[in-house]
Amino acid sequence: MTDKTYPPSPEFVANSHADKAKYDAMYQASMQDPDAFWGEHGKRIDWIEPYSKVKNTDFTLGQVNIKWFEDGTLNVAANCIDRHLETRGDQTAIIFEPDDPETPAQHITYNQLHDKVNRMANVLLSQGVMRGERVIIYMPMIPEAAYAMLACARIGAIHSVVFAGFSPDALANRINDCQAKVLITADEAPRGGRKTPLKSNADAALLHCSDKVRCLVVKHTGGQTTWIEDRDVDVLALMETASPDCPPRPMNAEDPLFILYTSGSTGKPKGVQHSSGGYLVYAAMTHQYTFDYHDGDVFWCTADVGWVTGHSYIIYGPLANGATTLMFEGVPTYPDASRFWQVCEKHKVNQFYTAPTAIRALMAYGNDPVTTCDLSSLKLLGTVGEPINPEAWNWYNDVVGKGKLPIVDTWWQTETGGHMLTPLPGATATKPGSATLPFFGVKPVVLDPQSGEENVDVETDGVLAIADSWPGQMRTIYGDHERFEKTYFADYKGYFFSGDGCRRDEDGYYWITGRVDDVINVSGHRMGTAEVESALVAHVDVAEAAVVGYPHDIKGQGIYAYVTLMNGVEPSDELRKDLEKWVRTEIGPIAKPDLIQWAPGLPKTRSGKIMRRILRKIAENDFDALGDTSTLADPSVVDELIENRMNKK
Ligand code: WT7
Repeated sequence: MTDKTYPPSPEFVANSHADKAKYDAMYQASMQDPDAFWGEHGKRIDWIEPYSKVKNTDFTLGQVNIKWFEDGTLNVAANCIDRHLETRGDQTAIIFEPDDPETPAQHITYNQLHDKVNRMANVLLSQGVMRGERVIIYMPMIPEAAYAMLACARIGAIHSVVFAGFSPDALANRINDCQAKVLITADEAPRGGRKTPLKSNADAALLHCSDKVRCLVVKHTGGQTTWIEDRDVDVLALMETASPDCPPRPMNAEDPLFILYTSGSTGKPKGVQHSSGGYLVYAAMTHQYTFDYHDGDVFWCTADVGWVTGHSYIIYGPLANGATTLMFEGVPTYPDASRFWQVCEKHKVNQFYTAPTAIRALMAYGNDPVTTCDLSSLKLLGTVGEPINPEAWNWYNDVVGKGKLPIVDTWWQTETGGHMLTPLPGATATKPGSATLPFFGVKPVVLDPQSGEENVDVETDGVLAIADSWPGQMRTIYGDHERFEKTYFADYKGYFFSGDGCRRDEDGYYWITGRVDDVINVSGHRMGTAEVESALVAHVDVAEAAVVGYPHDIKGQGIYAYVTLMNGVEPSDELRKDLEKWVRTEIGPIAKPDLIQWAPGLPKTRSGKIMRRILRKIAENDFDALGDTSTLADPSVVDELIENRMNKK
């Protein structure tokens, strides 16, 4: 961490949506009178029936209730498309850059987007999808993924996008959890020159689902797939004959727009449910202010639409603002490590938003891949997903930004819908590694982890919670409001608990120190240790498993698995590979353990609770800080684990 600060340049300030005085005034206003503030800013989107009430929220355990603009009606797709047609029908809405740089890019105008989304919406209607029903989207990063999301929004269906890197089992669990009526997928997802067989995965998943689930397939690569009559539907063929008119359905502000599954510290992934009105207002407003987006700019968020970052900052925020948003199908290092920068040059990208893990990975290739590209169009750089280390920040700043561009380090979560702590580039002096200050309407507090009391000193540390609601907040866990309350409102009464630890410095800047629960952050993606553990113990040879995070040069955190084998099973490299493969098929490649350590025994208390604190320290090679081990049922297992750890890299 460094104390150096980077104030915005006077030129940037002059053209920005908010300078420091404006940020301060707006933030103050948002704290003093949230109803008045959001009542005003809620008007940035079009309402069919305007709202008369603004905020109706309660964080009290047992009666948690979050409603914004509750008597307003709107249609999200109409806000992202129709309302722009008169002024910018011929402007590019989506630039699609395919995996293979030789394949021509597509420029989809707002008029064309309107046509495609309407046709896709009519296809969904023809399949019997009704308002409020769930549609799973398991797609490559292609424009059809955006059409599918917006088509759902248009007819009032609730979408749940499942990242294409998830396995058939993970997909089936999500289809079943939300009782989806339809699955939209594609034949194959090309990424980095390789193809993920999405349709085959979907076939495997659907074996575990109701036979009523229809499978809508986008023929993207034309790769050969099996075809099940009466279940599989060729979407593109149907879109061709479908009507290009599909009136947007008026939805209530609080009607769910989407569900997105995310890992927690316990149990199966949670279906994070977002609203239509509050979510859209918040996604659009953060997109405009955080990135200082101006009409005509080309905005590129490198995330996948399978994550919330892709929802809020590839699709909903940018399109609600009438932006040009870039969708990239590929990976940063294909065909080589200059791909990101070539795409920036090719499409004259103005704002570029990526994850620290990508920056670290590219940094390893040196400066040439960057400096050989013309990056003069760039006005701003952003990061998201995990704390950014000073080396990566400096490289991003010096080499990509040539020392001239503001960097916005945005802290937020699937649960928050949009940015929560972030610099505003014309207002906030940045400090490398700090997500700086709250966005309008966000009231962060630092709590004492034990007492739950607010640490009122400016300079302090503890756990990060939010004291009051904001419009983009998740509304519930799909089908399990009790779990929602238990997960976020039970540990610290009266607050929304983020699960992150943080420090606040003398200037009131926030520094996220990472998760304080059993969630690890692998390459900016959240993974529940419990999920990986239950996958491991489902293997016949495994008796017990404990999973923790450990520092990883590129990924931020890696997955470290301690595995106790069944009696009589001998450890071997073959078994290690088999377990890795097993986890890949149970959850997906992102959950594959980076290190597996054979553990003859695990450190447990006398009541049988695994002491993860000790396992974390051992994984971090920090043997001197194990703390009190005297409460262990068998303290000798620790020595054995340390010895095994030392024999590893
Ligand atoms: C967790 C949320 C919504 C962003 C994508 C990840 C970590 C996120 C930052 C940041 C430090 C960050 C936190 C958070 N995180 N952004 N700028 N600095 N940590 O969404 O999968 O819901 O994960 O990502 O630990 O709790 P997610």
